[in-house]
Amino acid sequence: MIKFDASHAMLSEDINSYGKQVKEIHKMIHEKTGKGNDFLGWVDWINNYDKEEFDRILQVAKKVQDKAEVLLVCGIGGSYLGARAAIEMIQGLYPENKTEVIFIGNTFSSTYFKQVEKHIENKSVILNVISKSGTTTETAMAFRMLKQLMENKYGKEECKERIIATTDKARGTLKALADKEGYETFVIPDDIGGRYSVITPVGLLPMAIMGIDIHEVYRGLKAAYEDLNNDDLATNPAYQYAVCRRILQNMGKDAEMFVTYEPQMQMLGEWWKQLFGESEGKDGKGILPCSATFSTDLHSLGQFIQEGKKVLFETLVLVEKPLMDGLFPHDELNEDQMNYLTDKSLNWVNKMACEGTLEAHEVTGKVPNLIITIEDMKEYTFGYLCYFFFIACAMTCYMLDINPFNQPGVEVYKKNMFRLLGKPAK
Ligand code: PA5
Repeated sequence: MIKFDASHAMLSEDINSYGKQVKEIHKMIHEKTGKGNDFLGWVDWINNYDKEEFDRILQVAKKVQDKAEVLLVCGIGGSYLGARAAIEMIQGLYPENKTEVIFIGNTFSSTYFKQVEKHIENKSVILNVISKSGTTTETAMAFRMLKQLMENKYGKEECKERIIATTDKARGTLKALADKEGYETFVIPDDIGGRYSVITPVGLLPMAIMGIDIHEVYRGLKAAYEDLNNDDLATNPAYQYAVCRRILQNMGKDAEMFVTYEPQMQMLGEWWKQLFGESEGKDGKGILPCSATFSTDLHSLGQFIQEGKKVLFETLVLVEKPLMDGLFPHDELNEDQMNYLTDKSLNWVNKMACEGTLEAHEVTGKVPNLIITIEDMKEYTFGYLCYFFFIACAMTCYMLDINPFNQPGVEVYKKNMFRLLGKPAK
């Protein structure tokens, strides 16, 4: 399903020398004995998820779909990135859906909020607020304002049909408020952290409302769970990727650039950055995750990658079959001198750009490249890819003796911000 290729990575060590360590960590992950082991619910989630809740997601999605000209998804970080990555990757950036999805509650920008407010003024809106803690300030602020807007527009009773909360099963202000108001609620499991939560109702409900086949997402997730539940480094591509990252960092590569040639996968790169950045960047360790969309960013970052300081390696995520394709047209006059591409497929041109760039970066620029190839950008592949990155991330972090599942560093800015905002102490 996923092909992993390290032959362009110029590795200075033999991957297989890490086989024993990988076996030990694999056992630790599956037996849940490592650091942060109370957040390993994602590992066998596909066997343990609540089937009734899954069916309820489908029912609620069906019920609200007719009403939803706009689906507002209000959340940030792990409560936002996965759903957006999935919807954009699977449906493309300009799908023919009757429902438009807008992500909100992920910024303090006043302009952003006010523009969305204006944009939805005369549209029929469904709101899915997503917050595990229920107290995240960006999300809570946007939610209060949207709730008031919707109550003024539809009345409290109708809002019960239009506002859906995805949150902790018992704790937190959002859960209490949702119960009081009579909103439909879905659960974010205790043992799955934000950046691993796309496979829970956090990601599934927005996907289902947007018409994505979540059964297929789970089929992909299950296949990956089965394929990658394998402690043999020689045959496990996720662990090969994890080990290559460690070897490349040993070679002084402290930054990894996730590269896609598909603009609809740009948000997958954002999701991946949170997964690896929050999991690995602690105790003064980790690889800085960054992302780029080529060929667009070859016209901005390309110069640095080719000739700048040799701090990074690239991880190319290539797609075999695009969502759509077409042929480049002939022009009798050929004034633009582009006839050499007549009847070539647009995707073939993209592929040639990729091959040429890989050669330039690797051979001339001496930039190591790891290549992950997926078949398409459909539901099954998305589910599969999520698990691939989850397990690779856990492996690569445990190789550094890091707890992959906490994020103590993100609290520091919040403390300062709350002081400046005058938030009362509890
Ligand atoms: O990975 C994380 O834990 C964070 O990105 C959170 O998901 C994010 O801060 C949102 O938190 P919450 O769902 O509690 O609103």
